Amino acid sequence: MAVASAPGKIIVLGEHAVVFGQPALALAINLRISCRVRPSKGFLLNGTSLSERTHPYIFSSVQRAWPGGPLDIETSSGFPTGSGMGSSAAVTVACLAALSSAVGKGMEEKDIASQAFEVESQVQGRASPIDTSVSTHGRGILVASKPGEGFLWHIQKDTREWFVHHCEVPQLSFVVGYTGINAPTGPLVAKVKRYSDHTTFARDIIKEIGQLTVEGVRRLRANDVQGLGELMTRDHKLLAILGVSHPRLDKLVQASLPYSYGAKMTGAGGGGSMIALTDSPEKVAQAIRMKGGTPFLVRTGEPGVRIDQG
Ligand code: MEV
Repeated sequence: MAVASAPGKIIVLGEHAVVFGQPALALAINLRISCRVRPSKGFLLNGTSLSERTHPYIFSSVQRAWPGGPLDIETSSGFPTGSGMGSSAAVTVACLAALSSAVGKGMEEKDIASQAFEVESQVQGRASPIDTSVSTHGRGILVASKPGEGFLWHIQKDTREWFVHHCEVPQLSFVVGYTGINAPTGPLVAKVKRYSDHTTFARDIIKEIGQLTVEGVRRLRANDVQGLGELMTRDHKLLAILGVSHPRLDKLVQASLPYSYGAKMTGAGGGGSMIALTDSPEKVAQAIRMKGGTPFLVRTGEPGVRIDQG
């Protein structure tokens, strides 16, 4: 038997643009998914037959990383699926790590991150390695188009490539506001791709998001929370222009702003969640609740994937 867990994430700046080679900054959060595997008579997931259609991430992880016989797989999650907090990446990373431990292999972060990215690309279609890399490494990561300080690993797909870096992040207080709407990532990424294929306007917005991220990393390193928050709010406006926000996300962002340095949607959008950077988490949580959202007061700086005691 083997058990592993991996954290969810928030993207502070750069989602969607990162799929097109722009930089992005993500932090692991203290909401985790765990996965336990043990030998069995048939392939089961949480008591039902493992199927490619209903459990594509686990199915593809097993196909790639498991050379042995049937398994009984159990997962448990500390946060909702499709909430923009990286549940598919976390379940994939935790499952790959549990399988690697069951095979008796050591756990190389780089291998888990690159296999998890392949799984996510296969299931989701076009993807960047941001979710899978932050869930593997934990703490903070910066994905960039060139190697630099804190370089961890390089990931390539077709003509696109990403350089993943460790990013040291001061203790910051974020509130996640979940809209209750689960929106799959693939169609939202495909929508931005269509928009950017057809208009220079969309391509310019994607570049501007990249510039915001570069500036945001500078502000973060200077501990300029005010400046970082302003960039986050601007990023939300740009993502809304790209068509990936949702009226409920906009409402939660607006409700959080009076008590925050900045607020924005996080992850793929279309529902899912928003984040607010704040010194008044309780006030933000209350504002989110008043508008019908579900707040999560999250801690950042969380470790990445780990093998747990069974
Ligand atoms: C989803 O959490 C982040 C996106 O940028 C997609 C990706 O990078 O694969 C929207």
